[in-house]
Amino acid sequence: MSEPPQPADLIVFGGTGDLSMRKLLPALYHCDRDGRLAPETRVIAMSRAGLDDADFRGKADAEVRGRVPVDDPAVWRRFLGRLHHVSVDVGGEDGAGWVRLAGLLDGHERRARVFYLASPPMTFGPFCRELRRAGLVTPASRMVLEKPLGRDLASARRINDEVGALFDERQIYRVDHYLGKETVQNLLVLRFANAFLEPVWNSLWIDHVQITAAETVGTPGRRGYYDHAGALRDMVQNHLLQLLCLVAMEPPARNHRESIRDEKLKVLQALRPITGREVDRFTVRGQYTAGVSGGVPVPGYLDEPDRTAPTETSRRVETFAAIRAEVRNWRWAGVPFYLRTGKRMPYRCSEIVVQFKEVPHSIFPGGAPNRLVLRLQPSEGIRLHIMAKEPGAGEVALRPVPLGLSFAETFAARVPDAYERLLMDVLAGNPTLFMRRDEVEAAWRWIDPIAGEWESYGTPPEPYPAGTSGPAGAHELVTRGGRAWHEESPA
Ligand code: BG6
Repeated sequence: MSEPPQPADLIVFGGTGDLSMRKLLPALYHCDRDGRLAPETRVIAMSRAGLDDADFRGKADAEVRGRVPVDDPAVWRRFLGRLHHVSVDVGGEDGAGWVRLAGLLDGHERRARVFYLASPPMTFGPFCRELRRAGLVTPASRMVLEKPLGRDLASARRINDEVGALFDERQIYRVDHYLGKETVQNLLVLRFANAFLEPVWNSLWIDHVQITAAETVGTPGRRGYYDHAGALRDMVQNHLLQLLCLVAMEPPARNHRESIRDEKLKVLQALRPITGREVDRFTVRGQYTAGVSGGVPVPGYLDEPDRTAPTETSRRVETFAAIRAEVRNWRWAGVPFYLRTGKRMPYRCSEIVVQFKEVPHSIFPGGAPNRLVLRLQPSEGIRLHIMAKEPGAGEVALRPVPLGLSFAETFAARVPDAYERLLMDVLAGNPTLFMRRDEVEAAWRWIDPIAGEWESYGTPPEPYPAGTSGPAGAHELVTRGGRAWHEESPA
């Protein structure tokens, strides 16, 4: 039997922001509804919004209730009762908010105390200093950091140093929400709880791997952030590289946080650097122009509605990135890992495709190599494309057919949002699905030369119309190796 949930205080900086209202509060509500929060557990939002507890509960009632299934009003009321709001002005003169927070936390030192920074990274340092000044960090405290964790190795180190001055590494939880996704965890189970894959999980049998995170959304209203991130920093440095690590890592000795993170780190360290003129050969960047998405005309990146007008930086930022990566070790030498992500693609789909080699000697015409497709979203599942004989007499005709596992159908259960899993892990003190400092820094070390080279180009990224699958260069990147992107609409 699992242990009863322990009381905790979750203090969310940026608690009235988008992430909090769209992801954290709905996830916490689901946990509450499933009986995974102790009765005493509280959520204390901190922001500059100048709200009191009643205002914040009203805001949650208006903005969160419509996002979650409220089948029992008493549970919803119980959830609202957990919510508090403290107004703070970080770095400002007015220390009243910190005094109020200290008052709320006073007497609860033994509870897990989770500080969740869902605010821009430049606030991380000031928050940590205020926490230290107010004496709010207890041995049972944890610090959760949302991305972006810097925009290059130097800034990531600065953030890590600032936070590391107050918290031990074992208290720090760096979120990559992709690691909380059901299929991502299933990848570990598929690889390490089944015997049949491991013998063929290497360069002898695998031709290449594709990791795609395609989104149909654009970036309206996000220019301030996105201009300085771009697809490379927003998606590749974290989500896509983490997926690559899970595909490529060696079997860990134990299902233990450090064993798994140690193996992921080795993969990042084995990535072949892409530098100088190779950047042109092995990477592609694109930016969407006006087009049609979901049957509706949509503007290009530069014309997205926003508070600020586009600048020269906006013209140069990529909304699409594709990279041909390689892991230089015994298992993977010579196997390309194609990474691809973009906004305003034809359909939303995140998946890992492992393409096996052709059979060594074919006795039937028309065969195609096996493909293992791990779909992260939508319709989470695993499909193994195998060759089968078309029914009928006469010539043997082959057809690739999928052997499929749909999580929704097989388990007939709601697939929880990544944040539910991650929040529960933080409360339980389990950092396995969070990034360690050395992992984040190793990822930046690999990304920096690509970002630097792109930034030195005076040219804008290759345009692609919204609603299409990226610029022509992305297709050349794979066709050059005699391959093709796996394009299968999840619909
Ligand atoms: C975030 C990025 O980390 O991930 C967003 O900042 C992106 O730009 C999002 O839209 C995608 O997450 P998901 O879970 O919808 O694939």
